[in-house]
Amino acid sequence: MDWNKWHDKYEQQPALQARLNLVAERIAEGLLEKSVEAVVSSLCCGDARDLVLALGRTGWESAQLQGQLVELDPTLVASARQALAPFHALGHFQVQCADATRYETYRDFALADVFILSGVLGNVPTHCYGDLAQSLGQLCHTGALLIWTRSLDERNNGPEAVGTARQSFHDAGFEEIELSRTADGGFAVATARYTAPPRPRRDLGTMFEFQAFEGNAERKAQA
Ligand SMILES: C[S@@+](CC[C@H](N)C(=O)[O-])C[C@H]1O[C@@H](n2cnc3c(N)ncnc32)[C@H](O)[C@@H]1O
Repeated sequence: MDWNKWHDKYEQQPALQARLNLVAERIAEGLLEKSVEAVVSSLCCGDARDLVLALGRTGWESAQLQGQLVELDPTLVASARQALAPFHALGHFQVQCADATRYETYRDFALADVFILSGVLGNVPTHCYGDLAQSLGQLCHTGALLIWTRSLDERNNGPEAVGTARQSFHDAGFEEIELSRTADGGFAVATARYTAPPRPRRDLGTMFEFQAFEGNAERKAQA
């Protein structure tokens, strides 16, 4: 899968644009509730356009944010770094070119106040959702806001996968706040609050499986 090219879909598919808007709105809400100091993490961040849009919406001119973003594709890492550069007055944003599926990647991560998991679950087998949700408990402060998305496309097992995700996050200590659907019904965008104490860190091994969802041309934009 050419993930750099995949990002062109944002210009072509209103459903993805709608998802992006919702995600950015939720990130901005999460950041604003933390005042000006917050740690924000993003896993498989792509070109970070959701965080960039959210930062523009806070209205902040200065803040003490710490951004911890992970992305495997070097071109997208470069794009994310470039897109975040104008926000240097708001804090320090580090975009790691690394494998998000490995615990090792998170060794130096601070606990997050806002955690972005956008466009990821559609590429993760549902049998991994439970472990992934538990792992996020190692990376979040109590009270952290998690934003996750999932395609609702039935051909990608959408409605059932959303149900599995909700249950998995609930079981891992994430209390759901809101689950919205984009107007076209294409994506679920959920927010949940981490209510448990941070779990002991694992720092070796596989956290979850990422299997790029590749279907027909129409389905390739789903994630
Ligand atoms: C569907 S895109 C979502 C991008 C972004 N989060 C968004 O919502 O626009 C999935 C992203 O996961 C990245 N990715 C795939 N496998 C990865 C891995 N093992 N570690 C980190 N990133 C990965 C891809 O390069 C791609 O940017």
